[in-house]
Amino acid sequence: MFAAVTVFMFVCLMTTAHADHHHHPCHTPNMTGLMNVMNFKGEIKALGAFTYDTTGHKLRFRSNESHPENTSLGLDLLVFFEEGIFYEIDSKNQSCEKKKLHCKLQPLDIPDDSKFHGTLNAGSASIEGEGVKVNVWRGKFSDGKGWRGSYSMSATMGCLPVLTIYFSEATPLVISVMEVEMEIKDPDLLVVPSFCHGQPLEETPEGTVNSFLHEFV
Ligand SMILES: *[C@@H]1O[C@H](CO)[C@@H](O)[C@H](O)[C@H]1NC(C)=O
Ligand SMILES: *[C@@H]1O[C@H](CO)[C@@H](O)[C@H](O)[C@H]1NC(C)=O
Ligand SMILES: *[C@@H]1O[C@H](CO)[C@@H](O)[C@H](O)[C@H]1NC(C)=O
Ligand SMILES: *[C@@H]1O[C@H](CO)[C@@H](O)[C@H](O)[C@H]1NC(C)=O
Repeated sequence: MFAAVTVFMFVCLMTTAHADHHHHPCHTPNMTGLMNVMNFKGEIKALGAFTYDTTGHKLRFRSNESHPENTSLGLDLLVFFEEGIFYEIDSKNQSCEKKKLHCKLQPLDIPDDSKFHGTLNAGSASIEGEGVKVNVWRGKFSDGKGWRGSYSMSATMGCLPVLTIYFSEATPLVISVMEVEMEIKDPDLLVVPSFCHGQPLEETPEGTVNSFLHEFV
């Protein structure tokens, strides 16, 4: 977490980045890893394993409720960004809720309209194994319901997301990604569980916005 905060400060201080207009947002590979979601008060909202299919735009995230921080939520989400739907799964009682996704912003991919902000070396650039070089991307997002914000996303040279900060009134969050492997280790995690089949799409109550980020506020 300290590393995350450090990178965060770097990103904020780095106002005079060597902007290079030849950079286009990269796309993350297929991944399996750990994701940590923290709010700006430093509370860990969720920490757990994810599986991401970058081609199919599918994400499974299961947080570990027994994390020692008592602020973490027990969540199991299966998100289909392209289709604009997601499932909130409760494996224990084999139930699930199917909901419409109002904002298709993907927490683990760099949006195509992101602007390249700069490259920085967290840690040391000159000592072998003591640093990580990241590209920083920035952009704005909106769900079309009057809810908007901006983000700053850093990714390694191979496009593994490291840290994303969402600056928004509704969903100020910091997402950090760890222990990444560039493959989908268990493809079954991206398949809708049989007990969710035939589940009707829930009506969204007036004034509610469903997005990946809104799951943590
Ligand atoms: C990611 O995984 C999916 C499902 O296995 C596969 O169809 C797709 O080609 C993979 N994408 C990349 C970029 O490897
Ligand atoms: C959840 O966290 C607890 C305590 O940190 C750990 O013992 C357990 O192995 C974790 N479970 C999973 C599924 O990651
Ligand atoms: C965690 O928080 C809940 C409600 O906020 C409380 O009831 C519970 O005792 C807390 N558990 C621990 C281990 O602190
Ligand atoms: C499953 O459990 C959750 C809480 O653990 C509860 O909110 C939900 O209503 C339960 N669903 C069914 C079908 O029992």
